[in-house]
Amino acid sequence: MRYLTPCKGCEDTHEEDVSKFLPLIKYVCGPYDSEEGFQSLDKEISAYEKSKDNTGGPSRRLFYFALPPSVYPHVCKMINSFCMTKSEGGWTRIVVEKPFGHDLNSAEELSNHLGKLFNESQIYRIDHYLGKELVQNLLVLRFANRLFLPLWNHDNISNVQIVFKEDFGTEGRGGYFDQYGIIRDILQNHLLQVLCLVAMEKPVSLKPEHIRDEKVKVLQSILPIKDEEVVIGQYEGYRDDPTVPNDSNTPTFATMVLRIHNERWEGVPFILKAGKSMNSKKAEIRVQFKDVPGDIFKCKSKGRNEFVIRLQPSEAIYMKLTVKEPGLEMKTTQSELDLSYRQRYQDVIIPEAYERLILDTIRGDQQHFVRRDELKVAWEIFTPLLHKIDNSEVKSLPYKPGSRGPEEADKLAEKVGYVQTHGYVWIPPTLSAV
Ligand code: BG6
Repeated sequence: MRYLTPCKGCEDTHEEDVSKFLPLIKYVCGPYDSEEGFQSLDKEISAYEKSKDNTGGPSRRLFYFALPPSVYPHVCKMINSFCMTKSEGGWTRIVVEKPFGHDLNSAEELSNHLGKLFNESQIYRIDHYLGKELVQNLLVLRFANRLFLPLWNHDNISNVQIVFKEDFGTEGRGGYFDQYGIIRDILQNHLLQVLCLVAMEKPVSLKPEHIRDEKVKVLQSILPIKDEEVVIGQYEGYRDDPTVPNDSNTPTFATMVLRIHNERWEGVPFILKAGKSMNSKKAEIRVQFKDVPGDIFKCKSKGRNEFVIRLQPSEAIYMKLTVKEPGLEMKTTQSELDLSYRQRYQDVIIPEAYERLILDTIRGDQQHFVRRDELKVAWEIFTPLLHKIDNSEVKSLPYKPGSRGPEEADKLAEKVGYVQTHGYVWIPPTLSAV
């Protein structure tokens, strides 16, 4: 038995909890590619199950692959051959992390391989954005509030932005990152999943298959990405990492426009933007409404209505509105209706995304996991562009670390209809203001 030192994420955990938790862990050592390793793993698990004598119900085996994806096929085969539960009424499930392949063909190859060994109901493709509190809230916000029903369409919405920014680079993982780039790392999975939840139709019910059916329909309605609606960038200094090739074209930044060809969203650009080494760290959804027809207050220049879902940090949902500036004059100003979680839910601990998702795998709830057909369409959308980038047919533009990314990206957003509000900054309320 080997005790592990508290890992990332456990630092804040109560010492007493950690000391209760660690003795429950058993470490079995073995290479990925040897049968003996998996046989001894099975032996250990079986001995544990026997010692419990079915007191906790039939055997339930969950294999979480914290592994390089290149070894998934082999490890799956080994688990399938040696480690499946033998108990009646029990289950065996596997949890796999992205990257699920490198492009459409490699992803399909991996899916075919896994599909021969496990049923779809046993495979949990994890995308941790689906475990974030405010991502999970999207379904409720959209479908449990009358307010949004008539507004959520191309008649009222000008554009939707889904933004991910980090204020640090690829430190320490340049070699890994360089093989994938920001599109495979963030857009093809995290941001696309969020887009589905923003854009999908109301599911028949909350059953995981009904929800995932609607997400797939959105993905299938996305038109091919146009080269002129993509800006990719690479921050200066990225190639100084000795594990990154000197001529790397791998993007650390991307802005692109996705267009959903259906009755609700025709003409509304969905602007996805993600970048490393930028001016701030945040992830948010920004739904920008069209201008008010007949601007009697001449307030158009002050900015548009926006509905913002701040996924992190400082989780919040706020609505940017034009209001009368308090005072004697009939002047307008921008303000907001603000539901800031830290202020509104002070005693509530928001669970980590992984905490929730691992619990879902134990409960057998696949609602927040990516289905095979979803994954396939997600790759279909991005593969042509990714191949062009891999072949340097689309070039990464340089940008300064700590900036907003290449200027061309802001110009693209503006060109497709996003109107940036100048002079308005949302400041998360502090607790002392309560
Ligand atoms: C991971 C990416 O999936 O998400 C990382 O591989 C990224 O590059 C991370 O830093 C961001 O996760 P979060 O939850 O901090 O937004």
